[in-house]
Amino acid sequence: MVDESFHIPVLTEEVIQHLIQNADGDYLDATGGFGGHSAAILGKIGCGSLIATDRDPEAIKYLNSKFKAEEKISIHQACFSELTELFRELEFDGILADIGVSSYQLDNASRGFSFKQNGPLDMRMNQSIGQDASQWLNNASEKEISNVIWKYGEEKKAKKIAKIIVEARINSEIKSTKELAEIILEEIPRKFNDKKHPATKTFQAIRIFINNELLELEILLEFIAKHLKIGGRACIISFHSLEDRMVKRFFRDKSRRDPKLSKLPNLPDDSSFKLVSKALKPSDNEVNDNPRSRSATLRVIEKIK
Ligand SMILES: C[S@@+](CC[C@H](N)C(=O)[O-])C[C@H]1O[C@@H](n2cnc3c(N)ncnc32)[C@H](O)[C@@H]1O
Repeated sequence: MVDESFHIPVLTEEVIQHLIQNADGDYLDATGGFGGHSAAILGKIGCGSLIATDRDPEAIKYLNSKFKAEEKISIHQACFSELTELFRELEFDGILADIGVSSYQLDNASRGFSFKQNGPLDMRMNQSIGQDASQWLNNASEKEISNVIWKYGEEKKAKKIAKIIVEARINSEIKSTKELAEIILEEIPRKFNDKKHPATKTFQAIRIFINNELLELEILLEFIAKHLKIGGRACIISFHSLEDRMVKRFFRDKSRRDPKLSKLPNLPDDSSFKLVSKALKPSDNEVNDNPRSRSATLRVIEKIK
């Protein structure tokens, strides 16, 4: 059984404070993970209800066991792009998404997300569907690999890394996280004092690509816009700038007048959402206790009409 300490939820107090405006309301935790945020929501709602979803079957198994005695929660395996189909008729008082990977996924060698643990180069959040990172990396063209590393990793050395990957795989397929990390490290040695491994951005890029993470996020944002009740709020926590930029722009665009109409006088404000607070970051204490929270950013929006 998975140990609870494998994932420490981030910004929990801030999430609860901003998300729950109605203790008897209906809530959706779209990234149930290891149930840290879900447990905090359940602790705060009275007659309300919580639906927890996650695309990872291991997370779902864990959530089912953690909350087996809890009547206010229902748990479903689903990715963001399946939420509309599943909850077509539902509206929520609050929707939470804590996007990215859990510490359990990152630290578990068999999931193949991290160069710190040697394991099969997999990186799928749901290991029962789709191609894994190794299958893709051993078959994609150099140009395709370079584009992915540049687009999703914002890695300046994307072309060089793609070239060395394609050269290395001529000898033998790249099958493990360690092999990929070593291929990159051989050509791009670590600079003195640089805390980041030179493969960091490449691993992030391949993970985002394999799990179609940015399209999933785009679909989630549209779902949120349609499925919040009036007065309902969405809280989104992201861990890197690509995702946070998307959330920030979407929230900004939804909460201001249509720029095409903004120069016309005497038009009422037509926006249906308002921003709630500025972007929130973990306190120094939280970062001390849980260094992985360092890069988290929480944004909150409310549906007003
Ligand atoms: C940072 S963890 C969430 C941890 C959770 N808040 C907790 O307290 O334990 C992110 C979770 O989101 C899930 N996830 C990421 N992208 C997803 C998507 N597109 N659809 C559904 N779940 C997703 C991952 O499988 C992972 O379990």
